[in-house]
Amino acid sequence: MKKILVATKKPFDPAAIPQMKEIVDNAGFSVEIFEKYEEQSELVNAVKDIDALIVRSDKVTREVVEAAANLKIVVRAGAGYDNVDLDACTEKGITVMNTPGQNANAVAELALGMMVYQARGQFNGKPGTELRNKTLGIHAYGNVGRLVANIAKGFGMHVSAYDPFIDKNEITKDGLKVYNSVEELYANNQYVSLHIPANDKTKGSIGYDLLSKMPENAVLVNTARKEIINEEELLKVMGSREDFTYISDIAPDCKDKIAEKYEGRYYFTPKKMGAQTREANINAGLAAANQIVNFFKKGDTTFKVN
Ligand code: 3PG
Repeated sequence: MKKILVATKKPFDPAAIPQMKEIVDNAGFSVEIFEKYEEQSELVNAVKDIDALIVRSDKVTREVVEAAANLKIVVRAGAGYDNVDLDACTEKGITVMNTPGQNANAVAELALGMMVYQARGQFNGKPGTELRNKTLGIHAYGNVGRLVANIAKGFGMHVSAYDPFIDKNEITKDGLKVYNSVEELYANNQYVSLHIPANDKTKGSIGYDLLSKMPENAVLVNTARKEIINEEELLKVMGSREDFTYISDIAPDCKDKIAEKYEGRYYFTPKKMGAQTREANINAGLAAANQIVNFFKKGDTTFKVN
């Protein structure tokens, strides 16, 4: 019998678990739920005899992969798979998948929610500003970027996008202006919402050159990954521009330095909250369980990323 482990330091909403179990039970497989563990060594111990692993942002390191002698498939229930050592998995013939789009709406709603919260002075009782008629640049037009654009249009924002991997017509047909370069996107938008993944090319790629050229009262919105920001250069921008604000779903490593000097010009969620809704957890959890069943039963490798 195939053994599936659901290892989530940050658990799924409880409503997702029975539905995931049902999918696995119906396939004749067994499932174990391993939540809220604290040490990485606990995960290493937990994977010893499993065939499949479902994780969220949990770190599937080489050590984890090497400890899991029977492991055939890892599904990251979510979009970003920068937490999985793809090389280690590929070397051992382990398939890695994500569940693209399943939690995208939750992340998009949070992006707009943080923008409203910040524009209203974090609800401090003083007059704030509105989003209507403000410019918003979407940096990468994937599942989350598209939904952010759509919701922002409802707010009456002027939305544009830059994505070198997507046909421009796909963006213009949604009624958005398209920029040909990342520099133009930043130079023309008061708000920029980040939706690029964290990889060797993108880590540390958002820094002084782009941020210093954003228009007056610039707001950088990050619901992607903290690693894509060059934090030293972010601090330089915050120091040189009193009108620059950074709001992010998860604090940067330099959060104390920002908090010390730039009150009111930042907001950071205490824990990564983007995908933390019941709906997103159910969508991503069920998709992960189904993908594993289809992989073992039908050899289906849709959404394989390695
Ligand atoms: C993702 O990449 O899907 C999001 O960052 C969500 O991550 P989480 O599952 O850890 O909340």
